[in-house]
This record gives sequence, C-alpha cells and structure tokens, in this order.
Amino acid sequence: MSDTNNLVMDLPVPSSLLDIGAQGLIGKPLSRSEGPLKVTGRATYSAEYAIPDLAYGYLVGAKFGRGKITRVDADAVRGLPGVIDVITDFATFIRNPQQGGESKAPAQGVKDVQYFGEIVAIVLAESYEAARDAGERLVVEYEEAEGRFDFEALKADSEKGTFNNIPGYFHQGDLDRAVADAHASVDVVYTTPSQNSAAMEPHASIAVWEEGTLTLYGSYQMPSSDKLQLAKALGVSAKKVRIIAVYIGGGFGSKLGVAPESVAAAVAAKQLGRPIKAVMTRPQVFETTVRRASTEQRVRFSVDAEARLTGVGHETKTSNLPGESFFEPAGVGTHFAYPGDNRVINHDIVRLNLLLAGSMRAPGEASGMMATEAALDELCHKIGLDPIEFWRRNEPKEAPEEKVPWSTRQLLRCMEEGAERFGWDVRNPEPAQVRDGEWLVGMGMAAAVRSNMLMKSAATVSIDPDGRATIATDMTDIGTGTYTILGQIAGELLGLPLDRISVNLGDTNSPPGAGSGGSWGAGSSGSSVYLACERLRERLAAAMGCVPDELTLKDGIATARNRQIALAELVGEGLEATGQIAPGDMETQRKQASYGAHFAEVGVNATTGEVRVRRMLGVFSAGRILNAKTARSQCLGGMTFGIGAALTEDLVHDPRNGKVVNHDLGEYHVPVNADVPQLEVHFLTERDQFANPLQAKGIGELGISGAGAAIGNAVFNATGIRVRDYPITLDKLL
Ligand code: MOS
Repeated sequence: MSDTNNLVMDLPVPSSLLDIGAQGLIGKPLSRSEGPLKVTGRATYSAEYAIPDLAYGYLVGAKFGRGKITRVDADAVRGLPGVIDVITDFATFIRNPQQGGESKAPAQGVKDVQYFGEIVAIVLAESYEAARDAGERLVVEYEEAEGRFDFEALKADSEKGTFNNIPGYFHQGDLDRAVADAHASVDVVYTTPSQNSAAMEPHASIAVWEEGTLTLYGSYQMPSSDKLQLAKALGVSAKKVRIIAVYIGGGFGSKLGVAPESVAAAVAAKQLGRPIKAVMTRPQVFETTVRRASTEQRVRFSVDAEARLTGVGHETKTSNLPGESFFEPAGVGTHFAYPGDNRVINHDIVRLNLLLAGSMRAPGEASGMMATEAALDELCHKIGLDPIEFWRRNEPKEAPEEKVPWSTRQLLRCMEEGAERFGWDVRNPEPAQVRDGEWLVGMGMAAAVRSNMLMKSAATVSIDPDGRATIATDMTDIGTGTYTILGQIAGELLGLPLDRISVNLGDTNSPPGAGSGGSWGAGSSGSSVYLACERLRERLAAAMGCVPDELTLKDGIATARNRQIALAELVGEGLEATGQIAPGDMETQRKQASYGAHFAEVGVNATTGEVRVRRMLGVFSAGRILNAKTARSQCLGGMTFGIGAALTEDLVHDPRNGKVVNHDLGEYHVPVNADVPQLEVHFLTERDQFANPLQAKGIGELGISGAGAAIGNAVFNATGIRVRDYPITLDKLL
C-alpha cells in the first residue's frame, strides 16, 4: 500500500477547509464508490441502455488510403434481411476542437477520403448482426489518389507547429555555441512509434431524437465540450443536444472529443425517426478514432566542468493529417524540467494521411521524456556521474524560461526518497556487469514531470430536507475515482458520511464540468464542489447564528456556540449552491507542475534478448492527495503504460496506404498482468496553495511521464546497449 512521509514544507501553507473539516474523509484510501456496480454488471455503459424501438448501425470504413468515393452501392444491401437503410450523408472526418480543429460541414457525406478506415457509411438494420453482415458486403467504389503515408520518406517535408498556446518553437541564447564550448555533451536522436489509447470499452453511442432534441448516450470524457462539437457537426444549436456519459470504460484521450460513431448515429436516427445504436468494433477503435503520433526527437544536452547544464535542445518531428493544427507536444515538459541558459525546443509536423493524431495518456511529456530522460542518462554515463547527483547540481531554483518561482517542486526529494526505498545505491553504474542465471540485470531511473492545469468547472451541491446531499455536474469518471473523491470533498465540508451523498455525473443537463483530461479533472471539478460547499457552509452558519469558522459539521449534525442541530432540520426546505472555478481564479505567476521519480529493475535474457521488468518504484509529489488509493491506482496505471511504451506498444501503419496493420489487442500489445511485476508507489506530503482551493495537483498522467525512460535506462545498465528506437523489442538487443 502507499504511504506518505512527513517532509517539511518549503512554504507555510494556509489552512484549507479540507484540513479543518471534521468528517475525516480527505486522503483516506477509499475504494471507488461505484466499483460494486461495475463488477456486478449493474453499471450501465453507453451501449447498454435499453431503448425501445432501437435499430442498429454498423460503421463502414474506407478500404483505401486516400482518394474519392465515386459510388456506394446501397441498393445491393438494402434488400438483405433485416436491413433498413444505408446512410452516407454525414460528417465523419471529426476534427476535435480539443485537438485544434473543427468538424467538417455537416450532411455533405464523405467524398474525399483522407485516411484508410475513415468512416464513409452507416448501415442500419433490425439487429447488429444484420447490420454488420450488410456493412461487410457494402461495395464502395472509389478512385484512389496519391497519399502521404511514410513518415521516414517524407519527414524532410515538414511545417512548423502552432497550436493553441503551446509554443511550437522556442529559442533562447546560443545552443550551438554552448554545445561547442561544453565540457561534455550528447546529441542523439530518439524515435517513438504511433500508439493507440486502447481503452477497454470501445467507442459507442446511442442517439435518440425527441421533438427536435438529441439525447446521445456516448462514451465521452468531456461532455460539455463534446456537446458543442457534436452540435456543430449536426448543424443544430447546442441547446438541442444532451450527452449522457455516466460510466466510461477508460478513455486515455481517445474520448476527449466525439468520434465518428456519434455523428453517424445521430444523423441516422434523425433520418430514420428511430433510436440508433452504433458501437465500434475493436479494429474501428484502432483505425478511426485517434492515435498518438509517432515522434522523432533530436536531443542535445551540454554541461560545464561541474556538470551544470548549459544547453538544452529538443527538436521534435511528429505528424498529423493535412489541415490539423494539433501536434504531439513532445517538448512541453522540457521547457520547465531542465535548466540551461541556451535552449532550443521545436516542433515540426509532417503531413500524413494517417488517422487523426490527438492527445493520449500525457500528450507531450509521455513521449518527450522517453527521449530527454534517456539522453540525460547517456550524458550522465558519459561523464561518470550518478543521475541523482546530476540533479543535485542542476535542480533549478526557478522556472528556467519565465524566471518565476515554482509553486512547489519536490523533484529532487522524490528522487532521494525513491533511491533509498528502491536500494539505488547497490546499482553498478558500469553496464552489463550483473547477472542472475541467464538474465542480465540492470537498474535505471528517470524524472517524472507533468504540467498542471486548471479548467473551468461548475457543480451544484444541494442538501435535501432529509439531510442528504447531492452533487450534480457533467464532469465524468473514466475509471479514475471522480465519484469517490467528489463525495469525499462534499462529505468533508458538509460533515456527512459518504452513504448520505449522491454524486450525479456525466449529464450535460447538469452544470458544465471540466471533463476528464489532461490530469485536470480532480483539481478542477473538485474545486467546484469545494466552492459550492463553502457557500453552503456560509448559509448553514447564518442559520446557526454564527460565522462559518465557528461551525462544526459532523455526521449530519451542526454544532456551534453550544448548540447542536441536525442538518436535516437546519436546512428546512433544502439548500442549494453552485460553485465554479476558472483558470484565472488562482492568480499566481508561479510555475506549476507535478513531479516524481521512477526507478526500474529489468532482466534481459542473455540468449533471447527478452526484456522483463522485475520491479518498479515511483515516488510522486502532486500537492494534496485526495484519496490515497485512487491516487496510487492512477500512478500504477501510468507506470504500467510506461512499460507498454518502453517495451511493447507500437501501432504499425502500412507504408503503402496508411492502414493500421495491428488493429486489435491481439496484435497491439498493451501490457498484461504477466508483463507487470509488483509496482510500488509513494507520495510525498505536499500542499500546493497556488494550484486550486484543494491544494491538489494533477496525478492522472504523472505516472507515465518518464516511466518508459527509466526502463530503457535499466536495459542499458543491464546490457550496455542503448536502444533509441522505442519500443525496445528483443530484436534490437541481439
Ligand atoms: Mo488525456 S490524453 O487529456 O485524456
């Protein structure tokens, strides 16, 4: 189990209502409140709603890489048993607003196909089987055009990246000079492959129109922005769209924006006048949702004679479809992770006709640190310096580019704590020296950094006349623990045990929440609940005739000035308040991020080259830990995906047409139990008063950031072989 230590804080932190609440819920390692519903099959996922008169839609994807559709032979399948219709007039080329694009104009149909697998039709039938059968028989005629499929062949033809407020190009000082004058330097190129989010639950939507209003039961991470995106794709007012996403079987970025099945189902349902269910097959999830783009990353580090960084270069190339502004922001963590006066951090995009590139599991840091933390290990090896000693000499006092203080940054403490717990001191820095039978054994470590963000989020909290509280927001729980921690926050502030709190999520009829993404979910939506409860406490205090500081709320009883009254009685007809937080609300110039350190021990089979992770340990600091169990689980998941990124995950495109070759979980290898040894997770005690009222920072994507590099560094320590092309498969070690 996780535990915390008692490190002294750098700054005195003002107390929070979470510290003075009497219920004792915050930080507790509570199991997810909806867990029993999920494991007993009583949690209703998007595809499982029992809707009367439902018809089934099967998506049909293009079987060519780029070109024009000349004819869809719908009549040939319309006569098949159970088949109702074939619809092609909808926008399927979804450009996610989150990813920097917009949906194509509605109702024109797909004529120009941009990538293999792009959805071009939906076949409707009385059963899924009939729809699928007809869908597989549907003949789509096309004229193929020349496409751009091969990153390696086309990478010289690239554009500068510009996307939202992520700086695509950054330049400071004179890096070339710093490298030329350096005591030592590295200049290396790392590559990472395309990846798929591979959430357990495939993308699924049920579309129901009633009196001109669409209700979409859809598996989506961000209902309030997904609603806007869907409305735009349909050409209707956002007021006419409601999204319901109560349970979501993982997203990992692939459900941040709407996917083609939602638009296809909505258009078909409207046209047919019947509810339509469209569920993607596993291959469709791989071929037509979103991918993490492959990267090529040139990393340069230069140091002076005391091993202090003088230069940092991180020049990355990635890919996306023509017209898409999103790029994999591989250098985003480099801006603040590493000091050094001379800096170049660049992002170039190569235009390729491969499926939409978007955010996946720590976009930026996850693939970026696979390169930078490995290159740093190369540098440390070159100069004969332990990586932790390197950080002791380099840990920056302020943000290296903005020159502003950190909110909190305990990176070095994470490393020192981790080193002690892991037994780092027994590591032999000389590679290929330790053997256990037929296994070469090595240890590696890496830093973890992940930007911390606050997103606009609102929630309503009410206390009913029976003394029960209800939280309502369209925030989601994608398996991360939102139901539980929002209940803990409200319970702490209102003095209610969890069984007297209902948490209603994932319905856009509720106030718009932050959604689950970018590790901002808990901090943002939790703050909205906190602020609503703070207002309720003010009103409860007024009803008690005291000031809020004098009020104690515990187990449904309000106490102040020698008076006790049950909450149920105190609220009369009931009380309700709405809380909202927005990015500008926390006025601070301080640089904010979450930090950690990864340690890995691997065995590499001396005969076969097989790599097995033997153990991993992570120490993290992310402000207040709201629930020790769900937080730990987030880090375990991140570290597990670090194993995948380092060793197994590799989405392969056919260079002739861009087709995703390994489009299922049998061929695209996410780590399974046998790949994951005992993982250890620890948290440092921390409060970040600059982050949000909860003083908590993002944790969801921290665990993956740097994890793969720690494994790669361990492989080098075991073998003396530095694999710069992820994943590190056995053929690269022989
Ligand atoms: Mo995350 S990749 O923002 O779901």
